[in-house]
Amino acid sequence: MDERYRRIKERLGVLGQEQVLRYWPALDEEGRQGLLDQLEAMDLEFIAAQRERAWPPVEAGAGSLEGFSPMPHIPLPSGPEEERAWERARRHGEELLADGALGVLVVAGGQGTRLGYPGAKGKYPVGPVSGRSLFQYHIEKMVAMERRYGRPLPFYVMTSPANHEETIAFFKQNSWFGKDPDTILCFPQRMLPVFDLRGQLLLESPARLSLSPDGHGGVLYALRKHQLLEDMRRRGIRHLFHFQVDNVLVRIADPAYMGFHEEIGAEMSARTVRKRDPWEKLGNIGRQNGICKVIEYSELPDEKKTACTAAGELLFGQGSIAIHLFSLDFLERLLRQKIELPYHIARKKMASVEEQGAELAAGGLNAVKFEQFIFDAFSFAERVLVLETGRRLEFSPIKNREGEDSPATARRDLSELFAGWLEACGIRPRRHADGSLAVPVAISPLYAMSAAELGAKISSGLDPEREILLEEPTGE
Ligand code: UTP
Repeated sequence: MDERYRRIKERLGVLGQEQVLRYWPALDEEGRQGLLDQLEAMDLEFIAAQRERAWPPVEAGAGSLEGFSPMPHIPLPSGPEEERAWERARRHGEELLADGALGVLVVAGGQGTRLGYPGAKGKYPVGPVSGRSLFQYHIEKMVAMERRYGRPLPFYVMTSPANHEETIAFFKQNSWFGKDPDTILCFPQRMLPVFDLRGQLLLESPARLSLSPDGHGGVLYALRKHQLLEDMRRRGIRHLFHFQVDNVLVRIADPAYMGFHEEIGAEMSARTVRKRDPWEKLGNIGRQNGICKVIEYSELPDEKKTACTAAGELLFGQGSIAIHLFSLDFLERLLRQKIELPYHIARKKMASVEEQGAELAAGGLNAVKFEQFIFDAFSFAERVLVLETGRRLEFSPIKNREGEDSPATARRDLSELFAGWLEACGIRPRRHADGSLAVPVAISPLYAMSAAELGAKISSGLDPEREILLEEPTGE
């Protein structure tokens, strides 16, 4: 122990971070052991170098946006010729699915601070009537696709150390929601230490550094660490479909998306929706000097947000909904070339061993954390596809406890989607005078995934005056 202590102390000394050991004399054996284990497991030099580069911690904007223009996108089809192109892409995507060429990746390591749900966000019971969790919806959609195309859809779930065990336990308790457990791979993302406002590593307790997940872009590091690209290669995967756990409407492995992605030879793709208004908080996909970039809502200046085309449409009218496709070749190249996504800085309120009076008073933000964002990978892609989708079909995230993008809006949007399918089959769930649904509607992905599938199964005798729940028959 003495030798380990001496070595760590020396490394910390070089980095000007010896203060981390200030409680050492008062720690018991277990505390000392734990602190040494934690420090030794970290690439302290790398972390200190990131801090050096980023200090003082201004939440840097996007840099100069001179010449930043929207990325061309493929809009939703609006005529027979476009319909044919979409149909062709859909068939191509279906061939890829039947070939087992697709893997699915969800990033589910976030802390869900705004929602404030005491558990992994994927466990949130969002389903109207059924109380289905986000994870159940996602997995059942995959099971339905597996049945349709006869091939497994390997599912990679990025968790964080804070919710990893909980996530696996949830899957086990629910028998993996009917999916073969060999095709669900959970892996935790990396945690990074955070700094106080003076640039010193923050201690959560006398024997523990304060840590925070490294952002959704940390998925590249985690895929490498857990050797998952090798796993994908072994399973014959050629493209990886990426989404965020809180979007309940995501159309996992949508064939048209994959078809277009492969047809144009894209390395990385983005799905977008038409923004509600210039102020909607979605990322903006554009390019600058030939390089594709996603600029966050907060970083796009107002004059660009509100700029219009000659036709009177918003110039940056498409917003990214974080549904990406990666070709495996591209991911392998990023890892082979040891490409590091940039680190973004955020100020945060974190538990700390000491009250830092003055700093806490300044808004309670006492910590500086580093995060990577997955969309920064676009800058390294040689070919990029941007494909529009319909908001009501595919985008309803749960971010906040109430108001916009909350469980209430997600539940409403799910009910609306299912009600739309029922209406296409001639069944009209009761609506209020203002057109909103008066009864909740829920359809299991294992029962139907579209109006057409529903039409082939639906029996008459559904009472549109009451809540509707359509589940796959259990056979009991
Ligand atoms: P958000 O940025 O919306 O974060 O993540 P969040 O954790 O869900 O919520 P807040 O901001 O704390 O309120 C978008 C997606 O990226 C994942 C989240 O799980 C979510 O699916 N994510 C985010 C990670 O997997 N790891 C991270 O470090 C951050």
